[in-house]
Amino acid sequence: MSRILVTGATGRLGQLIVERLVAQNRPVRILTRRPETARNLFGTTVQIAAGEFADRYSLDAAIRGVGRLLLLSPISERLAADQIAVANAAEAAGVQRIVKISGSDWTIDPPGVSISGDAHAAVEQHLRRLPIDSIFLRPNAWMQVSLANTIKHVLVGNPVTAANLDAGVGYIDARDIADVAVHLLLADRIADAATLNLTGPDVKTPRQIASLIATALGRRVAAIEKRPAIGPSDTDFEHRAVAQFATLIAAGRAAVTTDIVASILGRPPRSVEAFVSDYLAAEAALVG
Ligand SMILES: NC(=O)c1ccc[n+]([C@@H]2O[C@H](COP(=O)([O-])OP(=O)(O)OC[C@H]3O[C@@H](n4cnc5c(N)ncnc54)[C@H](OP(=O)(O)O)[C@@H]3O)[C@@H](O)[C@H]2O)c1
Repeated sequence: MSRILVTGATGRLGQLIVERLVAQNRPVRILTRRPETARNLFGTTVQIAAGEFADRYSLDAAIRGVGRLLLLSPISERLAADQIAVANAAEAAGVQRIVKISGSDWTIDPPGVSISGDAHAAVEQHLRRLPIDSIFLRPNAWMQVSLANTIKHVLVGNPVTAANLDAGVGYIDARDIADVAVHLLLADRIADAATLNLTGPDVKTPRQIASLIATALGRRVAAIEKRPAIGPSDTDFEHRAVAQFATLIAAGRAAVTTDIVASILGRPPRSVEAFVSDYLAAEAALVG
């Protein structure tokens, strides 16, 4: 099989994707600005291409000889420019397939509600015009990010807070996103330009999450309605994007589930209950 390039490989989701490809003995190359960190993470199981999105020379070198590409970059002002640069380098190198980690569906559609979603939409549009089979994964909010953060706060004695305690989220476990991404990177055929709205099995509200954590901990966990604090740091792209996510979630936009994970993987997606219980067990093991 031809080599697979993974961008964003040292990040939260990228690591899960690389681990899975390596476990299946697939030839993987990663692009990173931090080759030492990558070597510590992956040892000699992957080829490491030192470079960065804004440096076309390093991109061309990283993508040479690659057949399939996992495209991921962090939320930033440069998201669209960086991902379009990778896509153009991929076209020049004759890459056959791109699996793009996009934004959550509710940040992209309708347009104009999320700066991050609009940036992802611009990349999707660009990819649709290229002669490369591309598929867009639009995962709902990840358990490992916002839900993990909520549990962490509760463990140090804080309540669950949200702008709307009754606005639920169809949280997805990042391991399921990684499983789907790997499946699509390796599949013989994919439907070109498909957009896949990936979610967990059900919608959970902050009130329900407080109650789940309370049951698992065997103590009361308060749930309090609170507007997100807007400070001076909220002027940068990432903070503005996150504030928009909070507004959309409070309006119920993330309260969505689909059966796409189950239809691709042939098993149900991992649940919030399982995530909370695994998270607390791992914390308890650390403590002692
Ligand atoms: N969290 C959610 O709920 C959620 C939901 C839907 C979609 N998403 C999407 O998921 C993506 C974020 O994924 P993540 O949280 O796994 O990312 P992350 O942990 O923030 O990791 C960022 C990765 O990007 C690489 N990177 C950053 N700048 C780079 C540059 N200039 N050149 C080359 N590589 C660069 C970093 O590599 P090095 O530092 O090693 O260079 C790192 O591997 C975003 O696009 C976001 O929209 C997230």
